[in-house]
Amino acid sequence: MVADDKPASTYKYNEKPVYTTSNGFPIENPSKWQRVGTHGPLLLQDFHLIDLLAHFDRERIPERVVHAKGAGAYGEFELTDDISDLTSADMLNGVGKKTPCVVRFSTVGGEKGSADSARDPRGFAIKFYTQEGNWDWVYNNTPIFFLRDPSNFPLFIHTQKRNPQTNLKDATMFWDYLSTHQESVHQVMHLFSDRGTPYSYRFMNGYSGHTHKFTKPDGSYVYVQVHLKTDQGSKTWNNAEAGKLASDNPDFATQDLFEAIQKGEYPSWTVYVQTLTPEQAQKFKWNIFDLTKVWPQAEVPLRRFGKMTLNKNVENYFAEIEQVAFSPSHLVPGVEPSADPVLQSRLFSYPDTHRHRLGVNYQQIPVNAPLRAFNPFQRDGAMSVNGNYGANPNYPSSYRPLTYQSIKPTNPHETWSGIAVSDLFDEVKPHDYEQANGLWNVLGRTPGQQENFVTNVSVHLCDAHVDTRARTYDMFTKVNPELGAAIKEATEKNVKA
Ligand code: NDP
Ligand code: HEM
Repeated sequence: MVADDKPASTYKYNEKPVYTTSNGFPIENPSKWQRVGTHGPLLLQDFHLIDLLAHFDRERIPERVVHAKGAGAYGEFELTDDISDLTSADMLNGVGKKTPCVVRFSTVGGEKGSADSARDPRGFAIKFYTQEGNWDWVYNNTPIFFLRDPSNFPLFIHTQKRNPQTNLKDATMFWDYLSTHQESVHQVMHLFSDRGTPYSYRFMNGYSGHTHKFTKPDGSYVYVQVHLKTDQGSKTWNNAEAGKLASDNPDFATQDLFEAIQKGEYPSWTVYVQTLTPEQAQKFKWNIFDLTKVWPQAEVPLRRFGKMTLNKNVENYFAEIEQVAFSPSHLVPGVEPSADPVLQSRLFSYPDTHRHRLGVNYQQIPVNAPLRAFNPFQRDGAMSVNGNYGANPNYPSSYRPLTYQSIKPTNPHETWSGIAVSDLFDEVKPHDYEQANGLWNVLGRTPGQQENFVTNVSVHLCDAHVDTRARTYDMFTKVNPELGAAIKEATEKNVKA
């Protein structure tokens, strides 16, 4: 009997496909192997065994350099409110319109096998399959980030990972960076609040963090920040609970998401936008390209426009979640990046890492493929599996005209000019501690949250070098003198002799 010609992924569980080599040769018993005589050596002609071993030897692809541990699912976005005054994006025009999506949640610093409950920001990445191409929201669960100078990203990430000599997580490295780059303090306040250990992915918000632009074909635009608020309510672990969970069930958040969807308890998020006109942005107290700052909600109110619901688990984790490739540069007409330098550098970094992690044709992997794309000038390369545009010319041929559609606004957006400079955002100034203090006050609205914050910092900071501890107390004192004193007292009590 020979193998039939069905593609492998279309077999149902109740069918009994014929087992074969990767080449299609039927095999009687996958455990059998060929050798000479009773105890003789293996035979090189045993293609089945060599095929199996050689493929196994290559099963691993590089894990993501950050956000390696994650979980995901499919869902849909529904436009619930009209925002056609802000953007021409197809997905955001026509109340009631539904757009399919895939979402991947993640921790940041840990390796692929690390615990879901680690104290860390959480990634909140969404790929919308819109009629005008894929639109990725590569967000986190915090409205800000540790840095505003893009060149600091690799340096910062190294300090949150392992010491190059000991291969251990290193409290001195961790706090040395943060206390010498105090623009990070606002994000440090988020990280060490109990929101740094969310209960699971369903119970946390997502934020664009960066400023983007919503645009219209007439050239008008607004600056925007997007918020996804969990409809399940925000729920967190305290430090002790998160630590215990890391050993009891390190995959808790992954399991929680899968099982909730399996049971039909579909998690959802209500989606809002904050907007500033260019004129408002110019007069705004905060630099809108500074990723360490939020737009205070009392001044820039949230406007609701959608709901995202996750309602389908994947069939195959590797194919659909490990291989999913998000990028802030995967945009659609009606939305543009802002001049935020961190966002600008991310526009480069993600497709670059995908070409390394998944290969040059990563957009052909089914989970990444847009509904429609036609670019016959990108040809060949490793793993070109979609027919490679067949006989279409690989240059703009006069014998095979294409339709070129203008999506650029007719009026210019921002106009930039100047000489080339080698830049640093800003030195850290007193106002950089203001929003961190704002969050300290927000924590004070819920009994126990400020106390938990102090504990969460102290049990980590106590392992850092004495000079680093001192600089860190000074940083928190600049946020709020009472906070600085409380952290110093609690940390020094925890220092091991
Ligand atoms: P508001 O009082 O208007 O908003 C405070 C926001 O803080 C809430 O809307 C809520 O946002 C969030 N929040 C509530 N509890 C916690 C918590 N335990 N940990 C973290 N965030 C919490 O004040 P402002 O907008 O002026 O912001 C004050 C501070 O709140 C900021 O410095 C910022 O750190 C933090 N914050 C601000 C956000 C913004 O975009 N303006 C968003 C989130 C936090 P949510 O409903 O999104 O959870
Ligand atoms: C993942 C780079 C800042 C959110 C990644 C990856 C890289 C990267 C290389 C791995 C991608 C992959 O292998 O698929 C950078 C750089 C940054 C930066 C260079 C700054 C200069 C940020 C910020 C956010 C963010 C500010 C959120 C606002 C994410 C998310 C993922 C990710 C959610 C995981 C995506 C997934 O689930 O596949 N980043 N990042 N990053 N980053 Fe960033």
